Amino acid sequence: MRPHVVGHLAVSVDGVTAGFDVDLARFYAMATLWQEDVTLVGADTILAQEAALRSAPLPGPREAGPLLAVVDSRRRVREWDRLRDVGHWSDVLALYADQTPARPPDSRTRELITGYDRVDLDDALQQLGKSYDARVVRVDTGGTLLGVLLELGLVDELSLLVHPVVVGSGPRWQGGFTGRLDLGLANVEVFEGGVVWLRYCTL
Ligand SMILES: NC(=O)c1ccc[n+]([C@@H]2O[C@H](COP(=O)([O-])OP(=O)(O)OC[C@H]3O[C@@H](n4cnc5c(N)ncnc54)[C@H](OP(=O)(O)O)[C@@H]3O)[C@@H](O)[C@H]2O)c1
Repeated sequence: MRPHVVGHLAVSVDGVTAGFDVDLARFYAMATLWQEDVTLVGADTILAQEAALRSAPLPGPREAGPLLAVVDSRRRVREWDRLRDVGHWSDVLALYADQTPARPPDSRTRELITGYDRVDLDDALQQLGKSYDARVVRVDTGGTLLGVLLELGLVDELSLLVHPVVVGSGPRWQGGFTGRLDLGLANVEVFEGGVVWLRYCTL
């Protein structure tokens, strides 16, 4: 069965996901709400963190943490061992497609291969449910991956931490999604500093 899929994003008032100061402490504290089994991350989100990851402490895998699954059809992510050891996740899983460039023979990163030239996200989620016992998946993305998931009708819940700033240009939380999606409001909360949390379920 497909797991419950939640997109949790920090956004500006105009829906941009980068180029402003995110209340990171609140963002990650709130991200623990779902106790996800799998954190599903876009490769570009990981690449944006790679420099910081190289100087981060590496306490080792967090046994009770979720599995980190990265959508990486083009095999752009390199720092798998550091991601495993950074202390947030129990293990890492590369989501690849048939046409993903060859991996080094000594790679110890677990792989899930699905789709021809790009990861088949629907099938990947089904397999995460079936083979990895995932019931809840939290998507961590600047919006591109979420947009594709929205297009495929694979998102059950949206959590937007709206920051009091208008950024103008930049990636949007809904990526290239051009459809229409009706939502039910599940919660609203206002925090210090004018940050507003909007939580919606898809109908
Ligand atoms: N504000 C926030 O909450 C937040 C959260 C996370 C990140 N960020 C910021 O957002 C930026 C990165 O986010 P982003 O939106 O640019 O990228 P992203 O969502 O992190 O990465 C794009 C992902 O979408 C995949 N993809 C695109 N089209 C696809 C398709 N048709 N089928 C399957 N997979 C597909 C790509 O896979 P391939 O590898 O196969 O191309 C890639 O894994 C960074 O600046 C980061 O700091 C902000």
